[in-house]
Amino acid sequence: MFDLRVRQAHRGRGLGAAAVTWLTRYLFTELPGIRRIEGTTRQDNHAMRAVFRRCGYAKEAHYRQAWPGPDGKVYDSVGYAILRSDWLAGTVTPPHWDDEG
Ligand SMILES: CC(C)(COP(=O)(O)OP(=O)(O)OC[C@H]1O[C@@H](n2cnc3c(N)ncnc32)[C@H](O)[C@@H]1OP(=O)(O)O)[C@@H](O)C(=O)NCCC(=O)NCCS
Repeated sequence: MFDLRVRQAHRGRGLGAAAVTWLTRYLFTELPGIRRIEGTTRQDNHAMRAVFRRCGYAKEAHYRQAWPGPDGKVYDSVGYAILRSDWLAGTVTPPHWDDEG
């Protein structure tokens, strides 16, 4: 589990993506037993969602009304993850969503 916050004045300059890329490599290298790394953010956090995509994470969960905001509204939250196998291959494998037919 990790939490990431870039100081306002330094946002939008690639630091978020650089941090997640570094963290991903660090975890997969230092912890050979882990198969996946997960992250969750609020649905309307477009910057963090872009960071996940940029770093090879796939969206694999959507939790409706799961994130009570400080404004009294309840937001959806979304979950992303990267697989070691994808990280090694340089691929992004989305979940097989259409599996109920
Ligand atoms: C989310 C956060 C860590 C991103 O860090 P950052 O250094 O600003 O992000 P980057 O500069 O690496 O940008 C990465 C991508 O996000 C996009 N992005 C950045 N700010 C954005 C915004 N406000 N809206 C939409 N996309 C945005 C960039 O265009 C880039 O997309 P690309 O890879 O398609 O070009 C940073 O904005 C932050 O600290 N936010 C407040 C705390 C927070 O929300 N943390 C996450 C909690 S889960």
